[in-house]
Amino acid sequence: MPETSNLSGQHILLGISGGIAAYKTPILVRRLVEAGASVQVVMTANAHQFVTATSLQAVSGNPVRDDLWDAAAEAAMGHIELARWADQILIAPATASMIARLATGEASDLLSTLCLASPAPVSVAPAMNQQMYQHPAVQRNLASLEADGYRIIGPDSGDQACGDQGPGRMTEPEDLLSALAQHPLSGDDAGSLTGCTVMVTTGPTREAIDPVRYISNHSSGLQGLAIAESARRAGATVILIAGPGVPSAHWQIERRDVTTAQEMYEEVHNSLPAADIFIGVAAVADYRPANSEAQKIKRHRHADSDMKLALVENPDIIASVVQSGQVKVVVGFAAETNDTLNNAREKRARKGLDAIVVNDVSDRSIGFNSTNNAVTLIHEHGEVAFGTQPKTVIADQLIRELTPIFTAKTAQKL
Ligand code: PMT
Repeated sequence: MPETSNLSGQHILLGISGGIAAYKTPILVRRLVEAGASVQVVMTANAHQFVTATSLQAVSGNPVRDDLWDAAAEAAMGHIELARWADQILIAPATASMIARLATGEASDLLSTLCLASPAPVSVAPAMNQQMYQHPAVQRNLASLEADGYRIIGPDSGDQACGDQGPGRMTEPEDLLSALAQHPLSGDDAGSLTGCTVMVTTGPTREAIDPVRYISNHSSGLQGLAIAESARRAGATVILIAGPGVPSAHWQIERRDVTTAQEMYEEVHNSLPAADIFIGVAAVADYRPANSEAQKIKRHRHADSDMKLALVENPDIIASVVQSGQVKVVVGFAAETNDTLNNAREKRARKGLDAIVVNDVSDRSIGFNSTNNAVTLIHEHGEVAFGTQPKTVIADQLIRELTPIFTAKTAQKL
């Protein structure tokens, strides 16, 4: 049996769309109820072809909803109220058509409307014929959902009801239960940063040499984006200051795009009065060209000699945040290639940071421009190492580990 204690007391909205795997949903509801969750079921019109509302009502103990225009159901609990009631939404099975509706943001039936109207995290368990699942349109829609912050669970691969074999079987109810129980928003992290405003910087900066050339680095912004997203899921209001090339963020994250270190400095200080916590993940260029040429520098100008580029120092953004005294907690990152821990300890002390997260970027399979990272968090009470994992997992672990420090310091200085 999966560990499901996190589900106790949670409100789970189960959306069922019209696929053969819907026959497994009464078992799923039963298991959720056994784990202590309250379950409300919403069916699409086609789902009725595969499972009955009567069975689902019996196992959930709640009337099943299927119509946006059902006056009696709306009077009991309006659809906006239902959307707000949910701690998590799971759509299982999610057909190709349901996935397409979610990907385009349609509000064409009760279930798609609820997904748009709810602040709760939505998990989607695709289930369809293997050929359909592998179609580029379905894959494109699933990628859009992931980019919008939906979590895709499965599908499994194997024998299919239509006789085919391959990917497209709905994840089994026990595994769905386990995935819901492990969701970052389940359990302890939910709401742990409610009421806090967290500012995160991420990505590289670009320092122009001339109109076509610049000094920069390999940062993709993924680690900072993942931290912004973890903080958002933990209930924080998040302001993200992003350098060039950083992928899109969840719509609830207030994002400001910048190019240079100077612009990042200004954006940070413009929004600083609103922030409680500052997390500097950005790989900010320490130096910029003393003069950025207005015209493209021509090679012949330097044909007879080596070219020398004069550089001047950029502001140290994180040190200026500490010095401003406007923020209650300041966390920095350190990208090191040698003597990693000692350099990071020294950097934390020199910049006056509450904590620093160090990654050894001499290993090119992690850190810069990779989906994985391995870090050590150093703070006044100790050091914790997190081995190689996806940056999203590292981000959740860091937010979880830092939350007691955030809570203690924000309460202390309020
Ligand atoms: O973006 P990814 O591809 O996901 O890669 C993630 C990462 C490797 C960029 C990230 O994990 C990381 O290590 N970020 C810090 C990179 C860095 O520039 O470290 P640093 O040691 O030079 O800077 C130390 C701290 O000072 C950082 O918090 C940095 O944001 C800050 N800083 C540095 C220079 C400057 N002028 N202003 C600053 O605020």
